[in-house]
Amino acid sequence: MLNKERMPVHVAIIMDGNGRWAKQKGLPRLAGHNAGMKAMKKIVDHSDKLGIKYLTVYAFSTENWKRSIAEVTGIFKLLVSYVNSDLKELVQNNVRVKILGDYSALPEDAVRSLEKTLEETKGNTGLQFNIALNYGGRDELRRAVEALAVRVKNGTLQPEEITEDMISAELYTGCADVAAPDPELIIRTSGELRLSNFLLWQSAYSELVFSDVLWPDFTPEEYEKAIADYQSRERRFGGR
Ligand code: FPP
Repeated sequence: MLNKERMPVHVAIIMDGNGRWAKQKGLPRLAGHNAGMKAMKKIVDHSDKLGIKYLTVYAFSTENWKRSIAEVTGIFKLLVSYVNSDLKELVQNNVRVKILGDYSALPEDAVRSLEKTLEETKGNTGLQFNIALNYGGRDELRRAVEALAVRVKNGTLQPEEITEDMISAELYTGCADVAAPDPELIIRTSGELRLSNFLLWQSAYSELVFSDVLWPDFTPEEYEKAIADYQSRERRFGGR
């Protein structure tokens, strides 16, 4: 049973294993991503039911461009069909969508659909659903360093005045529009034990839960198990 008093405010998920799921079933990789998208929709709904305030999913990394053109275009097609077909439901469910990452590099139809979704959900006050797209933790930090360096160059900031909060504020999660707290819980599926360039700064004190289940098989029950694991841990933040 989950303790409602100890729900994480922000859960982030590395949705890994779509390719292996498809391979196991003798299906093309894109069938795995399609199944992964369906799993993701259930987790969005369930997050809202559990009273989680922020859910971040790693949908496409800065490294994922190395995959075949067919797979990359296929993932973006899925994204467009997801946001277009689910927009009404997201609005009805009071979900606010935000993007982490430089999504201007995505195909034009994806950018258009995403911007429509951002616009139409921006007033919603329920779950904030952050989709990391063309996102990389190192790229995010590099951008933050550049933004602060510009201020130093302008003479509006002294190097020794730079604080951790200023760095946080320059990250995708820190901009006023997104304003997501650091995730208390990061889940990775498919048995891989890595962060893979996901939320490098924000994960400093996150509890990590690894599930052996491949992402398309990650059900709300598995999700609750991961949250129960998080709730069983004692968080000390370096204190005693
Ligand atoms: C990792 O599995 C998954 C991805 C790189 C893509 C995630 C995409 C979705 C869940 C569906 C689409 C949803 C949106 C919002 C675009 P993998 O392909 O690395 O699996 P493998 O490690 O088994 O090959």
